[in-house]
Amino acid sequence: MLLNTGLVSPALLLLVAGGASAQLANSVTAFTTLQTWYNNSTGLWNTAGWWNAANSLTVVAELAAADSSILDEALSIFETTYSVAPSANPSNGLEKKVESNGDIVTIYPAGWPYNLLEKRASSDSSDPSAWLDGANDDAEWWALAWIAAYDVTGNDTYLALAEGIFSDIANSWGTYCGDGGIYWETTNNYVNAIANELFISLAAHLANRVPGNSTTYIAWAEKAWNWFATSGMINAEGTINDGLTTNCTNNNQTTWSYNQGVILGGLVELNKASANQSYIDSANSIAEAAISALADSNYVIHDACEPDCAPDATQFKGIFIRNLLLLQDASPKDLYTEVMQACATSIWANDRDNGTNELSVDWSGPFISPANSSTHSSAMDALIAAISI
Ligand SMILES: *[C@@H]1O[C@H](CO)[C@@H](O)[C@H](O)[C@H]1NC(C)=O
Ligand SMILES: *[C@@H]1O[C@H](CO)[C@@H](O)[C@H](O)[C@H]1NC(C)=O
Ligand SMILES: *[C@@H]1O[C@H](CO)[C@@H](O)[C@H](O)[C@H]1NC(C)=O
Ligand SMILES: *[C@@H]1O[C@H](CO)[C@@H](O)[C@H](O)[C@H]1NC(C)=O
Ligand SMILES: *[C@@H]1O[C@H](CO)[C@@H](O)[C@H](O)[C@H]1NC(C)=O
Ligand SMILES: *[C@@H]1O[C@H](CO)[C@@H](O)[C@H](O)[C@H]1NC(C)=O
Ligand SMILES: *[C@@H]1O[C@H](CO)[C@@H](O)[C@H](O)[C@H]1NC(C)=O
Ligand SMILES: *[C@@H]1O[C@H](CO)[C@@H](O)[C@H](O)[C@H]1NC(C)=O
Ligand SMILES: *[C@@H]1O[C@H](CO)[C@@H](O)[C@H](O)[C@H]1NC(C)=O
Repeated sequence: MLLNTGLVSPALLLLVAGGASAQLANSVTAFTTLQTWYNNSTGLWNTAGWWNAANSLTVVAELAAADSSILDEALSIFETTYSVAPSANPSNGLEKKVESNGDIVTIYPAGWPYNLLEKRASSDSSDPSAWLDGANDDAEWWALAWIAAYDVTGNDTYLALAEGIFSDIANSWGTYCGDGGIYWETTNNYVNAIANELFISLAAHLANRVPGNSTTYIAWAEKAWNWFATSGMINAEGTINDGLTTNCTNNNQTTWSYNQGVILGGLVELNKASANQSYIDSANSIAEAAISALADSNYVIHDACEPDCAPDATQFKGIFIRNLLLLQDASPKDLYTEVMQACATSIWANDRDNGTNELSVDWSGPFISPANSSTHSSAMDALIAAISI
């Protein structure tokens, strides 16, 4: 996509094509390994949690979009996960009670500033509450995963579910920080970056996919971005910290790779729905600051926790790369290509068990045993990104 074929020699084109097809073959191999963790009874991937599964599902959808040879298997995974995952929803941190008719009722703490104090956790997969677990970011990951499944299948059931999840979370808009944004979880009042970046991205993705409601979704995405951009989460170096203090100032907590990533895809989608060069400029400035903060001298991305990134941060780097690819499509830069290529190449050469083809946590290597479906699916994001650059 970067290459103007009129200016590039046939030999170089062949080389590039060879590289891309090698990345495709590696991605398909890695997909086979990923599925050794898939659990048909839960619709999740063993060895990792609820929100990680949403990211594995997204990876499957993205590979199916790049390679139709896995499409049938991807469809079967979507259908299984759609129908059985609600039964594996952990509803973390919320008090639950089972009513006499078997319904599960989730109790929110008294005084919580939500409209609803009580919410039914449904076992009906089409009911958005079946996908809520009390952590807004977890539900938002699922909504984005179902949008990725919609993109590859055109199945409106998945898009409708994403809309329902968004609508439920949008009902809780408005924190003690400027009366904007959403809280991380329904059971605490931490105002953090990830839940809000995902909210922007989800609204912007929906704006491009639900024509009848694009005005509503654009307005949400713009409102949330305008709040976020001035919230204090973006620091003086141009990277994004984990969240805000209770005084609504930057808390100087870790600049995790995923917090530099999700906003990139959100701004690219928002620009697609409602063009404004400032969205692309902001995305480029965050991406460049992030690469300068997180890439090593070989352009391979790292998180500060390596190699002990359990239980969540094992997933983060792939999310950064997945979204960097969206920015590269909208606003190409050699730097981004360099990073995506370097990560994919290094993962395969240095961070892989060459017997099982499992991929681990430190993309520079060495392979750390045991890998799991979180480290593996995260690394797959980089392999898949390298297919199309
Ligand atoms: C599927 O997950 C359930 C719940 O974690 C577990 O009890 C079961 O052993 C898993 N099945 C397989 C085949 O891994
Ligand atoms: C899950 O079900 C699919 C489709 O029925 C089957 O192909 C696959 O082998 C099953 N996976 C496991 C781990 O049992
Ligand atoms: C759409 O997805 C739902 C849920 O997985 C499935 O039951 C339905 O058959 C799909 N529709 C089509 C046309 O494939
Ligand atoms: C548009 O959004 C509103 C508010 O969220 C919702 O009530 C309505 O059903 C949506 N309409 C469509 C066509 O999605
Ligand atoms: C927040 O402000 C209060 C009152 O000004 C102060 O006592 C407290 O130390 C501040 N907390 C933080 C985390 O900055
Ligand atoms: C933020 O944290 C870093 C390292 O943890 C520290 O070096 C720096 O001084 C802190 N900055 C502020 C503004 O507190
Ligand atoms: C573009 O976005 C910026 C930042 O949100 C805003 O200040 C500006 O008014 C927007 N421009 C247009 C033409 O809407
Ligand atoms: C996944 O594997 C990584 C690398 O070995 C490890 O740091 C992490 O603890 C594992 N995650 C879980 C949930 O076991
Ligand atoms: C596979 O990995 C082992 C252990 O790192 C190494 O000794 C061996 O040379 C590798 N084999 C191949 C074919 O790369």
